[in-house]
Amino acid sequence: MSDLITYSPDAALGYLRDGTLDGLRDSITAAAQETIDDVELWQSGGEIPEQKQPLDAGFIQWPEELLLDLSENGDESLVARIESCARRLRETVDSVVVLGIGGSYMGMRAMFEALNHPFHNELSREQRGGVPRIYFEGWNVDSDRQSGLLELLRARGADGTAPDSRTAVIVISKSGGTLETAVSFRMFRQLLEEQSPDELQKLIVPVTGASGKLRSLADEAGFEDIFTIPDGIGGRFSVLTPVGLLPAAVAGLDIRQLLQGAADMTDHFRTAEYGSNAVLDYTAVCHAFETQLGMGTRLLSTWGSRLEAVGLWYDQLLSESLGKNEKGATPITVVNTRDLHSRGQQHQEGTRDKLITNVLPGVPTGDPLSLPSRTDDFDQLNKYAGFDLPKILQAAIDGTNKAYADDNRPTTDLALGSITAHTIGQIFQMLMLTTVVEGRLVGTNPYGQPGVEAYKINMNAILSGDA
Ligand code: PA5
Repeated sequence: MSDLITYSPDAALGYLRDGTLDGLRDSITAAAQETIDDVELWQSGGEIPEQKQPLDAGFIQWPEELLLDLSENGDESLVARIESCARRLRETVDSVVVLGIGGSYMGMRAMFEALNHPFHNELSREQRGGVPRIYFEGWNVDSDRQSGLLELLRARGADGTAPDSRTAVIVISKSGGTLETAVSFRMFRQLLEEQSPDELQKLIVPVTGASGKLRSLADEAGFEDIFTIPDGIGGRFSVLTPVGLLPAAVAGLDIRQLLQGAADMTDHFRTAEYGSNAVLDYTAVCHAFETQLGMGTRLLSTWGSRLEAVGLWYDQLLSESLGKNEKGATPITVVNTRDLHSRGQQHQEGTRDKLITNVLPGVPTGDPLSLPSRTDDFDQLNKYAGFDLPKILQAAIDGTNKAYADDNRPTTDLALGSITAHTIGQIFQMLMLTTVVEGRLVGTNPYGQPGVEAYKINMNAILSGDA
């Protein structure tokens, strides 16, 4: 566990009354214990008390279970089946469209943007190492965007033979009835029916719950691979189930390391002391700033360009989990230095309602670029010639933190060390755990999203003419 991510609130603690975090120790530890006990309650199959329904605690031990299944059952394990399906898709197609929305989309996008080449889809098949181009759809109702992608894939399919011209579809919906995803699935299924009528069973892979419309459709169609989203793991907690793992494996990511990172974080959560436990400390600090100083806006300030979608995934996680009963902090993802030139003014001088958590990416994956010197020096940058970009980024981080500190704006740090499958697995699990612990702390059931139903019911009624 050498590369465990670290959480450091040191720069912010002076804003809280003395003894605040010590004072929260018992209630945070109790909320963490309840979070852990919920796993047993859920596994026992016994009666779930009404105030705990729904109880989707299955995500907590899931990474460990999957790794155990892999070591005990080898090729028969779920991880091996996901990898084998992903290999099959990689070998037979060059474009994969992943359809899904909310928890059935945001985690994959986060992994893809964090871990794949930043211009993956622009590379040749050879440069991509045979990994298909990946597209995300089904997360909106936008005719121009969808027809743009359909046009592109239709043109690619028109001139050529497999695999370069072929497309596969991974359709993801736990309920199996989400209209946005179902509508897109019809569009992309039709494309595949035109392009590869004899291979539909191989080229469409549904990931869905044990029952529902998509499950019935998939059973009826006889698709070669169908993956089940386990009961007891809710949408936004499902990134490390086949929901995220299958697209990640297709994208060539190391899903075993993603799971190992998450399992390591669960172990850390269970065993590390309050005060050196990233999950408990993050929960305590965020809660203290919200309740003591009214700082209910949480900025996840990501540095560099690869973690924005991790932030957007967390925006959804926190909003849908704790934004209930007229309570819940507001998460906002920031990408710096980009947003220093857009939101920075407000964060520096606006309302004092923000706690800033820097997400520090650490060392770049490839060799760092450095600033060349020039014989002309009109831009007067020769004084920095030879500085590498991480050094310039670090100056931006330090300079921004200092500016915030000078104006009494609290910042904390979540440091990844480097962006790898292992650290991304950790940050997913850490943020899911902290969201649940905070929910238990404040008496909000973090699972379920009853508020989202209203628009769905209205939308369906309007379309059916019943409104
Ligand atoms: O967290 C959740 O449960 C939601 O965000 C869902 O993931 C989202 O609504 C998509 O649902 P489904 O997978 O059933 O299509």
